[in-house]
Amino acid sequence: MILVTGATGQVGGELVAWLAAQAVPARAMTRRPHTTDWPPRIEAVYGDAEDPASLDAAFDGADRAFLMSAQAVGSAEHPTHDLRLVQAARRAGVRHVVKLSVYSGGTGDDVLAAWHREAEAAVTGSGMGWTLLRPGRFMSNALQWVPMLRRGDTVHAPFATRPAAPIDPADIAAVALAALTTDGHRNVGYQLSGPQVLTPEDELGILAKVLNRPLRLVEVPVEAAKAGMIAAGMPAAVVDAILARTLDSDEGAEVLPTVARILGRPPTTFAQWAENHAAHFSGADPH
Ligand SMILES: NC(=O)c1ccc[n+]([C@@H]2O[C@H](COP(=O)([O-])OP(=O)(O)OC[C@H]3O[C@@H](n4cnc5c(N)ncnc54)[C@H](OP(=O)(O)O)[C@@H]3O)[C@@H](O)[C@H]2O)c1
Repeated sequence: MILVTGATGQVGGELVAWLAAQAVPARAMTRRPHTTDWPPRIEAVYGDAEDPASLDAAFDGADRAFLMSAQAVGSAEHPTHDLRLVQAARRAGVRHVVKLSVYSGGTGDDVLAAWHREAEAAVTGSGMGWTLLRPGRFMSNALQWVPMLRRGDTVHAPFATRPAAPIDPADIAAVALAALTTDGHRNVGYQLSGPQVLTPEDELGILAKVLNRPLRLVEVPVEAAKAGMIAAGMPAAVVDAILARTLDSDEGAEVLPTVARILGRPPTTFAQWAENHAAHFSGADPH
């Protein structure tokens, strides 16, 4: 049985859908198991990374697991959610974990790198089989624009010209499914990208065509973006690291062959993602 953590999230939600479609026995972990409509055959279970005892109950009987953490970098001294998930998986006798990490994993010397390095090391040093997924920017980050696009045609966003090769979370989930259910993915890390290098401005242009609306992007100045992150409670060192990675580096602005190689099909384009999620931008409840 496969345990999916973050089962209501962008990646975990898609993975649960894939597992249900393939009739693979799976359990979906969330802090709110009764508030989601789960696909047939999916068992929903309560689990909170702040509550280690709940994790033991959630992992009980699992032999494989998809691990993700939503814990904000720098909100604790260590990535405690990742550490607790790995410990619970080990205690339950899980044989293989697929861990959702970040682009470049723990490479670098800033606080972001140190956090992700520790989280990845917990997985790779656990004694369980492992696969690390290291994706770049998610296409679903564009869902942050939904409230603005319900009010009008203007999006206010920072870093409007920062390129990346955004990836559809459903493609990450498909790679996770392959790693969990087929051979050849043991103890490897996969750097993952989408099929095109795009800026947020490019993404909005594609979305405008898909929605047939005259959308425009107004760039939020860097200083205002920085003030917003500080006001949201992010530690200064984390904000500085994010700004340095965003403004002084082109990390992630490359198209990689990994998704196509593993899935045997090209990764989803931003236009396809936008068509698949158009309802979110035009009145239906956001994801
Ligand atoms: N966005 C990007 O561009 C990007 C790029 C690279 C990597 N990533 C990584 O991707 C991950 C985010 O994945 P996502 O977009 O699929 O997530 P998401 O859509 O933001 O959803 C967050 C998930 O975390 C769960 N969660 C939150 N607090 C929890 C807790 N205390 N205990 C257990 N579960 C908890 C939520 O479950 P409930 O609320 O249902 O409990 C939900 O399923 C992060 O680790 C991030 O570093 C993101």
